Formats: sequence, structure tokens, C-alpha cells
Amino acid sequence: MFNPVRARCLQSLLACAMLLSSYAGAAEKLAHVTILATGGTIAGSGNSSTTTVGYTAATVGVDRLIAAVPELAKVADVKGEQVFQIASENMSNEHWLTLAKRVNTLLAQPDVDGIVITHGTDTLEETAYFLDLTVKSKKPVVLVGAMRPGTALSADGPINLYNAVLLAASQEAVGKGVLVALNDQIHAARDVTKTNTSTPDSFKTPELGLLGYIQGSKPYFYRQPTRKHTADSEFDVSKLSALPQVDIVYGYANVSPVALNALVAAGAKGIIHAGVGDGSLATSVKAGLVEARKKGVLIVRSSRVGQGIVARNGEANDDELDFVASDTLNPQKARILLMLALTKTNDSKQIQRIFYTY
Ligand code: DGL
Repeated sequence: MFNPVRARCLQSLLACAMLLSSYAGAAEKLAHVTILATGGTIAGSGNSSTTTVGYTAATVGVDRLIAAVPELAKVADVKGEQVFQIASENMSNEHWLTLAKRVNTLLAQPDVDGIVITHGTDTLEETAYFLDLTVKSKKPVVLVGAMRPGTALSADGPINLYNAVLLAASQEAVGKGVLVALNDQIHAARDVTKTNTSTPDSFKTPELGLLGYIQGSKPYFYRQPTRKHTADSEFDVSKLSALPQVDIVYGYANVSPVALNALVAAGAKGIIHAGVGDGSLATSVKAGLVEARKKGVLIVRSSRVGQGIVARNGEANDDELDFVASDTLNPQKARILLMLALTKTNDSKQIQRIFYTY
């Protein structure tokens, strides 16, 4: 005997089953992205909705960051790990080694398609470049931060995190090196830098240019890195527990060699000279650098200017002094490349090759 009520129940059960299987199918198709949280403003909180400076960084855990953006579930199958919880001015070589090893372990897993790292913005560009040189995979690794804490009006963290996850889940980001995604923009780790102390558009790639944009939940690339990175890098930190001590000395009018001499006496294996102009050396400092070189300290001439090439044998006779020119790397990034170069060689000519390769 036909029973219309039972038929209606069976019909709706069938519809639910089809819906669930379509969701399950869609979930199966979503890329698997792991979020590694390290702290910073993106995990920060302030006393009021108008507190955009003077808040506390690194107070919100990764699970709450993910829960605050339920839209993440539409673009990736997300898991979270709290690697550390620090303000990024406290980032250390040891933190970098821990992070790089965790990233490489996860990316070697077939069930991880990409990684997002939430990070304070103060040293985000440095961590990004360190990973650009040490990640042994072509899978996407995206660093993201925020210029305002989550408690502020128009907080930028949630949309930055959403964009970073969809970028890390995308095919377009594969093989592009470590990326930095904030303010709807995509930057290469090597050339991006923080250009403003507090505004949401702080991260820029002056002159050399950003790689693309994220708009309407989709990444758009218009260029890609030209220097070696990630899987093509010669650096391997898997067995390292420390990195060579490399320090930076800053050039300015009336500079003295006191800071330089103190750093060399403290055991620096390399010195980055952040010179004025095209990496110029004041007479008062040049003698100290020559002395340091004679003691085996590797000297790299960079510039405080921020853009342009520091030319070999330009403002100093590098051939004669046995110094290295930093090419376009700013001092804080030149320090990272020199640290890793010194894990492979002390040969200044090999190190100059490395600065023209990465
Ligand atoms: N203390 C700074 C840091 O963790 C806050 C800046 C930020 O994350 O935007 O880098």
C-alpha cells in the first residue's frame, strides 16, 4: 500500500545523503593546510576597539585564531599548531631552526599541501627569507601577520589569515618560493620589507615589485622570483643546532669603530656593514673591518639605503680587501644569507657567488 508520508521521509533522507556526500566530496577536494602560529599582533589584543598601538602581542592561541575565521573551512582543510607564542622582536636563530625543521617535516607528509605561518610583523621579512633559503619543498609556505590586533576596529588579521590560507591552498602558489601575504598583496620573501611602523599597508616590495594580489578569494600572480629558493637551495639546516654568529654595524656621519670592534671581540664570524649610500666605508670603520678580515671574519658590504645594488668594487676595492658585496639584499637579509653561507664555506669568493645566486 503506497504511504505518502513514508515516501516523503525517504525522499528527504535521500536528499540529505546526497548533500552530505557532495560536502564530503568537496571536503575531500580541499587542500590540507597547516597553520603554524608563532605570536605577534595577529595574535594580539588591546584594551579597547580603538587601540591600534600599545596593545599586547602574542596573547591569542592558534585555535582561537582559526575559530575567529569560520570561512577558512570553505577554502582549505585546516589544522593548527602553536609552535611558539612570542612578539617577533624576540625571534632568535633557535626559533628559526625549530620552525624550519617543523615546516620540512610537515611538507614531507603527503597529507599536507601547504603551510601558513602566523607571525609578528617586526621580523616577519627575516623569518620569511630564512625559510625561503631552507624549506626543501615546492609546496606553498605563506607568512602572514597583522598591523592591528584582533580587538581593534577594522582588524586586518582575519582577512589576512583567510587570504594566506587560500593562497597556501592554491596551485598558483606552488614553486613560487616562500610568500608573504598581507593587505591583499602577495610578496616574495627575498625582497619584501616592512616600510611603516603601524599602517596596514606597511609591507611593500619597493622598486622590484610585489608578485600579485588576492582578490575575491583568488590569487593573481603577475611575476615570480628570479633567484634560487626552497627546493633549489643548497642550504640544509636539518642537522644544525646553531647558526654562526653574524652581526650588523650601522653606518652614519661621525661613526666610530667601537661597536664593530666589540662585536668582533665577542666572536662574530661575519659582519654586515650597513653603509651609507652605495655601501660606503668611513675611514674610521674601514681599518676595523680590515683588521676583522685578517682575523678571518667575513665582511659583507650592504647599505642602509634600502633599494638598489651595492656594487662590488664600487665604493670600496672588494677584490683587494677580500670583502663581499650584498647585491640588493638589505642588511637584515644579508645577515641571514651570510649565516647560512658560513654553514657551507668560509671562502669569500664562494660567498660572493652565493650573494649573486639567492
Ligand atoms: N611586537 C611586534 C611583533 O610581534 C608587534 C608588531 C606586529 O606583530 O604587527 O612583531
